[in-house]
Amino acid sequence: SPALRVVEWSDVADWWPPLGPTSEKYSRGVVGVATGSATYPGAAVLSVGGALAGPTGLVRYAGGARDEVVREHPSVIATGRVADAGRVQAWVCGSGLGTDERAATELRTVLAAPVPVVLDADALTLLVDGSLADQLRRRDAPIVVTPHDREFTRLCGEEPGADRVAATLRLAAWMNAVVLLKGDRTVVGTPDGQAYVNPTGTPALATGGTGDVLAGLLGSLLAAGLPADRAAAAAAYLHGLAGREAARGGPVTAPDVAAALRPVLARLP
Ligand code: APR
Ligand code: MG
Repeated sequence: SPALRVVEWSDVADWWPPLGPTSEKYSRGVVGVATGSATYPGAAVLSVGGALAGPTGLVRYAGGARDEVVREHPSVIATGRVADAGRVQAWVCGSGLGTDERAATELRTVLAAPVPVVLDADALTLLVDGSLADQLRRRDAPIVVTPHDREFTRLCGEEPGADRVAATLRLAAWMNAVVLLKGDRTVVGTPDGQAYVNPTGTPALATGGTGDVLAGLLGSLLAAGLPADRAAAAAAYLHGLAGREAARGGPVTAPDVAAALRPVLARLP
């Protein structure tokens, strides 16, 4: 089908935001990361790691793992709550956030911001709760959801099944959001029926925390101004290459994938 595209390096290079002599940190975009918690600080460190590897000039962190984030990533501006974070051009919300009242409040604050958002992991669990449905419907700025199969099944009420492109497009149309369905061949689908398949996946990525790195990178691409579908397709593509790059050094952990994004992204124009 003409609306199905296998992502290529040349696509990502075409979409990539130019970095010129007049760039400064604010014009490159600011990404906000609302992930992690006192219970799951690692999710915050990993998603911020993915965001820092991307093209944005500044990462703001808001959440319960600010000490760990700043210790690991000193260039990040950290605060406890989304409402205190200041202006960003995109938000990443979910991994390790928890699903308690505080987490729900943080998600509501993120959704109220008039900027693109990435919703992953615990944010998807919170979405299944109907009380957010109104806020989602009223939202103008793009939403990208990044489920793995179990998260997809909870959101959708049925498993993705054999035709993963059709399943992704169904959920995208129903949620009016860009859907990135993770897997061996990650699929990205838009509400108007455009789909992308990522060919760079590797089983080396099948290790805890690599999804958090992907969400952070995707947020950086959104904050840098890429349209949501291209941001999602490019993030999946580059994340897969980083998994392959990291696997050259032996068994892969999620921090290795975040680190390997740098040499991969260095090959872009
Ligand atoms: N081939 C290619 N890519 C793969 C493969 C594979 N066989 N397996 C996984 N991946 C990629 C996915 O496409 C995705 O980008 O690895 C990433 C995994 O992301 P998630 O499924 O979100 O996993 P993550 O959140 O990092 O870690 C899982 O979190 O959900 C909790 O309890 C869960 O402890 C678990 C942890
Ligand atoms: Mg995950």
